[in-house]
Order: sequence, then C-alpha cells, then structure tokens
Amino acid sequence: MAQIGLFFGSDEGNTEAVAYRIQARFGADRLDVHDVADVTVLDFEDYDVIMLGISTWDFGQIQSDWEDFWGDISAVDFTGKTVALFGLGDQFGYGDFFLDAMGMLHDVVVENGANIVGHWPTTGYDFDASKALVPGQAKFVGLAIDQDQQENLTCERLNRWCQQVHTALGFDGALSPLDD
Ligand SMILES: Cc1cc2nc3c(=O)[nH]c(=O)nc-3n(C[C@H](O)[C@H](O)[C@H](O)COP(=O)(O)O)c2cc1C
Repeated sequence: MAQIGLFFGSDEGNTEAVAYRIQARFGADRLDVHDVADVTVLDFEDYDVIMLGISTWDFGQIQSDWEDFWGDISAVDFTGKTVALFGLGDQFGYGDFFLDAMGMLHDVVVENGANIVGHWPTTGYDFDASKALVPGQAKFVGLAIDQDQQENLTCERLNRWCQQVHTALGFDGALSPLDD
C-alpha cells in the first residue's frame, strides 16, 4: 500500500489520464490510483494523504461516477487527512461553470474535516465563473486542467503542481519533472 491514495472519476478518459501522469511523477511506490467507480468508503480509510480528481459535465454537474458515489463520499470522515484536488474542464464553452465539480467535491471534504493543499493560481485561464475558486483569492481550490483546449500547458502544470504538493506534504527533495 502506497502512502498516497488518488481517487478519480472520468467519463471520457481525460481525468483518468491525468491521474496516471500524477502517479508517474510521484511514483507507483508512493501513490496508488483508484477509479472511484470501483471503490468503497473503506478504501479511503487506508490513506492519510488523498488526491481527488473530478471532471465537470453538463453545465456545472458532477462527473457521473462521482455522482453515484456522492452519498458515500459525504459520509467519509476526513479528519486528520490531507487532501489535494484536481479538476478537468473546458473554459471556452463552459466558462460560466468552469470546474464547478471540483469546487463541490472540495466543499464536501472540507465539511468532513479535510486539510487542503495544492491551491492553484487562476493566472492563464479565461473563464467567467467557477465554484472551484478560493473565496477572496485569485486561486482555485486545486489544480485546474483544461485538457481539451490547453493541452499544451498540461505537462508543465502537472510538474509544477506535483512539486508544490510534494513540498506541502513535507517530502524531502525534488520530484523529477517529466516531459509527457
Ligand atoms: C456536454 C459537455 C458538457 C460539459 N460541461 C462542462 C462544464 O459545465 N464545466 C466544465 O468546466 N467543463 C465541462 N465540460 C468539459 C469536460 O469536463 C472536459 O471535456 C473534461 O476534460 C472531461 O474529462 P473526463 O473525460 O475525465 O470526464 C463539458 C463537456 C461536454 C462534452
């Protein structure tokens, strides 16, 4: 069992691919990847450090597997757990709902006691509204990935965010940036 448990939900594979790119940076010995479609609440109890990946669909809605799991995740006690979130969405076309699901998932785990790391600046994104913003700050509650429209920025964003989270978790040394 690795130290970090990453749980993702993905309709068309974008969030899943990002999950494995995060694992490639931290290492499979340190980070386990789980599809939320295949887990129970018990799987969350195995980890003190958790990453959550979610995409937004249909004008501000939660990704379908996360939606099915919503009652379960709402019952998980995150007290004493550190959580980092990442969200997938399209800023052009859904700019009034950009990454809303990440904000909704964030609110659930914070309500249940999670300590959040991995806030991410809004610089470089163009959108009108998002539920994934930190109130009063130009930051998202987690990493923002627009794989459909800013694919060329994903690699560098992943390198920077993974290092940021690695440092916030108190791990020694630096991660090796990847060119993927
Ligand atoms: C019909 C449709 C609705 C979408 N609605 C939103 C939305 O409300 N907000 C957003 O940020 N992205 C939205 N998106 C973009 C998806 O979140 C994006 O394609 C994401 O990369 C999908 O990730 P997944 O394959 O892991 O589910 C939508 C895409 C489609 C095709």
